[in-house]
Amino acid sequence: MKTVLVTGAAGFIGSHVAESLLARGDAVVGLDNCNDYYPVQYKRENLQLLSSSPRFSFVEGDLCDRALVEKTFARGGVTHVAHLAARAGVRPSIEDPFIYQEANVQGTLTLLEAARKAGVANSVVTSSSSVYGNSTRIPFREDDSATDRPISPYAATKKATEVLSHSYHSLYGLKINVVRPFTVYGPRGRPDMAPWLFIEAALSGKVIRKFGDGTTRRDYTFIDDFAAGFVNAIDREIGFEIFNLGNSATVSLNEALETVSAVTGKKLNIEQLPAQPGDVELTNADVSKARKLLGYDPKTSFRDGMRLFHDWFVKHRA
Ligand SMILES: NC(=O)c1ccc[n+]([C@@H]2O[C@H](COP(=O)([O-])OP(=O)(O)OC[C@H]3O[C@@H](n4cnc5c(N)ncnc54)[C@H](O)[C@@H]3O)[C@@H](O)[C@H]2O)c1
Repeated sequence: MKTVLVTGAAGFIGSHVAESLLARGDAVVGLDNCNDYYPVQYKRENLQLLSSSPRFSFVEGDLCDRALVEKTFARGGVTHVAHLAARAGVRPSIEDPFIYQEANVQGTLTLLEAARKAGVANSVVTSSSSVYGNSTRIPFREDDSATDRPISPYAATKKATEVLSHSYHSLYGLKINVVRPFTVYGPRGRPDMAPWLFIEAALSGKVIRKFGDGTTRRDYTFIDDFAAGFVNAIDREIGFEIFNLGNSATVSLNEALETVSAVTGKKLNIEQLPAQPGDVELTNADVSKARKLLGYDPKTSFRDGMRLFHDWFVKHRA
């Protein structure tokens, strides 16, 4: 049995990863500051769900609090780390880059320092597909040097977490798998992301703000596929590797809107707006490395995933 410190356990992906670990018999120590980037009530509900397991414990606090993080490792008997806490989202990072730097860079450094002192067996650090910026090497491969030229503060902080992780591997032999998620969506998803905003607007008849001409494409990854790959990354003690965790099929904004209309059975009320600064044209993961080394196997099509997300949304949020 592993004891996994899951940072960001109250959040969308963190709560799913924690749930998967608990389901297979691991112990989970959650750490989250439950900030109000989106309704705190959603995070409390995620924590309540996890708390039904006697193997779940939770520390509410900030990742940048060094004493607290070190104490959490020591008290919890942590053997593995799943680092998912971060300020997420490209657009708000342009508005307030400082909170992104603090949570994502200083927070990751604090965690790595505590992890190496605790001598954990393996860690997974979460980066983002946004590190690829507007790379023209399609599909995106982990060794793409375009990741050295991020185009938003969020992407820059995520690149920083990758290189900090490498320095801790190099200096102290810390074993770390870095994962780059590609637009993860599904039940308990983030309310600032397109799948949520579209479903919510479709169901309530609100306006959907469509940025650009609808030809931008995204590699949407269903949460269950992603969480399975992430858990495999916790188990595989490799050394230091970076993995794309995407679906590898892309969906245009226009196709995504058609899918939302189909799964909700509603006609959409669309407001056409110009493309936003910092937005990328395309995200598309080459997942062959993750398939080979992590046994990663994304199976859920966008339409099936959006149907599942819609059903959850109607039950819990509509
Ligand atoms: N959802 C996606 O499509 C996506 C894509 C790329 C990368 N990611 C990355 O995956 C991870 C999880 O994202 P998510 O979508 O679940 O977002 P989320 O916002 O739902 O979860 C992040 C959690 O981290 C917590 N947190 C933030 N700053 C903290 C701090 N300083 N100390 C303690 N806790 C803190 C938040 O309260 C939140 O609960 C993040 O690292 C994010 O950057 C997500």
